[in-house]
Amino acid sequence: MTLTRRSLLRAAALGGAGLAVGARTAAARPLVGAPGADQTLRALAARSGRAFGVSAQLGPMLSDPAYATLVTTQARVFTPQNELKWVALRPTPTEHYSFGAADTAVRVARDAGLAVRGHCFTWANSNPSWFKDNLTRSNAARVLTDHITTVTTRYRGQIASWDVVNEAYGPVAMTPTPWLALLGPRYVDLAFRATREADPSAQLVLNEHQLECSPARQRAVLRALEGLLDRGVPVHALGTQAHLSVRQFERHFNPRGYRAFLREVGDLGLDVLVTELDVTDHDVAGSPAHRDRAVARVYRTFLDTALAEPAVTQVITWDLADKHSWLRHDPRFEREDGEPLRPLPYDDAFTAKSARHEMAAAFLRAPRR
Ligand code: G3I
Repeated sequence: MTLTRRSLLRAAALGGAGLAVGARTAAARPLVGAPGADQTLRALAARSGRAFGVSAQLGPMLSDPAYATLVTTQARVFTPQNELKWVALRPTPTEHYSFGAADTAVRVARDAGLAVRGHCFTWANSNPSWFKDNLTRSNAARVLTDHITTVTTRYRGQIASWDVVNEAYGPVAMTPTPWLALLGPRYVDLAFRATREADPSAQLVLNEHQLECSPARQRAVLRALEGLLDRGVPVHALGTQAHLSVRQFERHFNPRGYRAFLREVGDLGLDVLVTELDVTDHDVAGSPAHRDRAVARVYRTFLDTALAEPAVTQVITWDLADKHSWLRHDPRFEREDGEPLRPLPYDDAFTAKSARHEMAAAFLRAPRR
């Protein structure tokens, strides 16, 4: 990693501070009197040398102007949530790319002055159905390389950071993906090298899931990162997704262990990005106010832990308001009482919740990196 790239990213993180002062919108009503309530999350994050970001789906960004205003006001970084996935970009097994939605998502973010993160080039999910009959051992490397080259080149200078490989490593073995089946474990190397080739200035991220409460997964990812670096693979950062759930977090999160893990990643010379933060309350009984407090406690503990480590450069939430959370559409997280989930810093009316207050307070407490 070059000094220049690191300092550029730091400058980007700090750039949010000045813009944010007084930029509160009517839609974003903060908790009155709470520390940081009168500042945007991007300004609060910038105080410790970090960038705050949001991922959102294009649909709500276009159809719900109050939500779009909330997102673009609070965030410094934007991750298009689905528009850069294979299934969105490559509807047919031809050389045709369907760039419409991705172009719009990138333009909406850039018009609002946000830095854009690309997500993602390899994953087990959201692959087109034509993979099954058209990807083979002999063409897979070329298909993957061509895809990465075409997409990265199109957005060179517009997308500063890529989740090149998504959810590749499990606690005991690599996660099955079409790429693993056809190319073996070195598909990871190939994907990083192809992205680097197409855009030498982009930040290249290994984006991993379920790390926060699993020492076994942490060890597996550390070993994988060491291997990549030993082989000279251009990886610059680890994404720790942080899709958290209240009960699992209360039972299994070990702040000391997780901090040590983040430090070890930093010691490898890598940045760490919290890439997909949300906290589901699917297994918490009680009133919305009670659940909001439980969710907020998780935000507090998690962020206090992560932000204590200077390697952590960005915090990105997966959606910003409960109304548009992907979790509400996933049957795995349905509540027994049928009530809608409340996993994010803002509620359905875009009113700031306790989780927003705890995020703000954690950013204010965080040591400067
Ligand atoms: O756009 C179509 C719409 O036309 C159709 O009518 C509708 C019917 O189901 O589906 C819509 O597409 C859905 C898309 O979200 C947009 O809403 C897909 O079915 C649905 O599978 C897709 O889910 C996304 C999921 O990844 C799979 O790609 C979620 O929004 C997104 O939040 C989620 O994000 C993942 C990250 O990429 C990786 N980490 C975990 C995270 C959460 O699962």
